[in-house]
Amino acid sequence: MSREGSVVELSLESSLDKMEMVEEVARRVSGMAGFDEESEFQIEMAVHETVINAISHGNKQDPRKNVWLRFQIFGDRLEIRVRDEGRGFDVASVPDPLAEQNLLSVSGRGIFLIQKFMDEVRVVSHPGSGTEVIMIKRLNSKVRPRRGGRDREHEGHSTSS
Ligand SMILES: Nc1ncnc2c1ncn2[C@@H]1O[C@H](COP(=O)(O)OP(=O)(O)OP(=O)(O)O)[C@@H](O)[C@H]1O
Ligand SMILES: [Mg+2]
Repeated sequence: MSREGSVVELSLESSLDKMEMVEEVARRVSGMAGFDEESEFQIEMAVHETVINAISHGNKQDPRKNVWLRFQIFGDRLEIRVRDEGRGFDVASVPDPLAEQNLLSVSGRGIFLIQKFMDEVRVVSHPGSGTEVIMIKRLNSKVRPRRGGRDREHEGHSTSS
């Protein structure tokens, strides 16, 4: 059965104890969309980081504020939207975690990971009325598997990274 056009929407209160459920939904929707296990993991991680940011940085864990998630399956891709009710932010001003002075920092890697794991990431900030992060993962994603290292079977020769 084709899942094309399927939409799953969630509205969450700003509490981190909902994370497990959010990750489970992300994994299940990714499976329904036809992604392999590796991509499911990447999507789950991207959703995890985005929702934690929305709850913590966006809504500042204010129980009166909500986070909305929307998953939409298309024939060639999965589109995920995460919206909060915070003050918004400028993604271009987020420090580069790979810069030498940031390498030892214990935080500041969420957005970097999201951008690595997804094929497209757009952040739309609405000053005063929150942030919407729109992420797309394509079924023929250019993001290659990274886990497993040498134990994995590689097609052709691998490049170092
Ligand atoms: N939804 C959001 N609303 C407001 N600011 C945000 C939002 N998402 C991210 N930010 C800002 O962007 C910065 C970088 O986010 P990022 O997820 O990369 O790192 P972090 O959350 O600080 O640390 P980590 O995710 O590694 O625990 C945050 O510190 C915050 O200032
Ligand atoms: Mg973060």
